[in-house]
Amino acid sequence: MRPQTLTDATVWLDPPIPADIDVIAEVCRDPSIGEWTSMPVPYRRADAEEFVDGFVVSGWAGQSPTWAVRPAPAAPLVGMVGLIESAEFSAEIGFWLASSHRGRGLMSTAVQQVCAFALRPAGPGVAAPAGMGLQRVEWRAFVGNHDSAAVARRTGFRFEGTLRSGAVQRGTLRDCWIAGRLHSDPPGPVADWPSGI
Ligand SMILES: CC(C)(COP(=O)(O)OP(=O)(O)OC[C@H]1O[C@@H](n2cnc3c(N)ncnc32)[C@H](O)[C@@H]1OP(=O)(O)O)[C@@H](O)C(=O)NCCC(=O)NCCS
Repeated sequence: MRPQTLTDATVWLDPPIPADIDVIAEVCRDPSIGEWTSMPVPYRRADAEEFVDGFVVSGWAGQSPTWAVRPAPAAPLVGMVGLIESAEFSAEIGFWLASSHRGRGLMSTAVQQVCAFALRPAGPGVAAPAGMGLQRVEWRAFVGNHDSAAVARRTGFRFEGTLRSGAVQRGTLRDCWIAGRLHSDPPGPVADWPSGI
């Protein structure tokens, strides 16, 4: 798919580029990112190079786009959000934010934009701007990741349950929560998530 920039004039999303590699390597050494994602620990500069030059490029060549999250156009990135194709009609969303930029709603705004793009009808023949035409975006997080759950709940995902040993983290199986947002679901906060999540 063609690289796509998304913005609502509060947050700017564009494909990460080689100039972002040092910042990615620095941010991904934050223990909270290692704790809640499947990224390598320790995180080396070579991991960031492989991510940008390999994973990001091949993702955009297919149906698995990744965006750098920037607080201003062309500013250094402060986070990452992306979709991994899971079926012809669905993709799983993933994201992380530098701890110095948390607590301001940047990721919730970014996730809203990515979901809007993912769930909008695909071209040609649809009114611009075309999206990816997916029916479903899925969110999964290791059990206990309340900050990630708050982003999903705030951005229209419905809680669907707990998958026992549902995901692997660096060779260890962990339970995970799962939620989904369908193209017919409203984008606003969802009230009926189980208490304590
Ligand atoms: C998950 C993660 C991205 C959430 O970051 P975050 O800063 O809490 O998320 P947002 O940027 O959406 O900010 C939401 C916070 O800003 C507040 N906020 C302020 N203005 C806001 C606005 N306009 N819109 C939404 N929230 C706003 C919210 O109340 C919330 O704060 P609270 O948790 O104290 O209530 C971050 O904790 C992280 O990177 N964790 C490590 C990696 C990770 O877990 N990734 C997900 C794997 S599934």
